[in-house]
Amino acid sequence: MIRKEIKEFNTNIFKEFPKMALLTAGDIEERNSMTISWGFMGTIWNKSVIVVFVRPTRHTFHLMEKSERFTLSFMKDGYESELAYMGKFSGANSNKYEATGLVPVYDNDSFVSYIKDAKYVFKCKKIYSDFLKPECFIDKGLLSHYNEMIKDYHKVYIAEVTSLLVDEEYAG
Ligand SMILES: Cc1cc2nc3c(=O)[nH]c(=O)nc-3n(C[C@H](O)[C@H](O)[C@H](O)COP(=O)(O)O)c2cc1C
Repeated sequence: MIRKEIKEFNTNIFKEFPKMALLTAGDIEERNSMTISWGFMGTIWNKSVIVVFVRPTRHTFHLMEKSERFTLSFMKDGYESELAYMGKFSGANSNKYEATGLVPVYDNDSFVSYIKDAKYVFKCKKIYSDFLKPECFIDKGLLSHYNEMIKDYHKVYIAEVTSLLVDEEYAG
């Protein structure tokens, strides 16, 4: 992987995000990844940030709460079935890395892991978080994404991008 400046990232994120990425949180003793396809990238408080949304019902959620940092790995083509598995099954009762063969790579600098065979890895540091609130939805139709009984409104994490790694093949 080659380290790149975030300002050199010129990929169309509107194409990348819906395609699924792996959000990884936790330390070397307890780590977990889950598939996400909702997120933003942009600028706030003069920082380059990534915004992700995690429901409290995910096993990854408690690791996101414990960890100051997380990574986002956008996988190369050919990992669709592994991404589907990581988005369907929970790390609460299984080791999803063993089940899929995906390999977490521990990063000694940031104390978090990313996924081998990613084309882009964003290392992130949380700077703001809060839950989405049902009363704040202007388009009330969007509440259909949530179960009234479970009330698992996403927690929003705004995170500073501390480092971007790009696979040699995609470095341009
Ligand atoms: C395509 C796709 C996108 C997903 N995006 C999100 C997301 O943005 N936020 C979220 O909380 N869950 C999302 N999920 C669901 C989690 O990936 C799924 O519940 C997963 O099993 C949670 O794993 P965990 O319990 O090991 O954390 C998505 C699932 C799929 C298949």
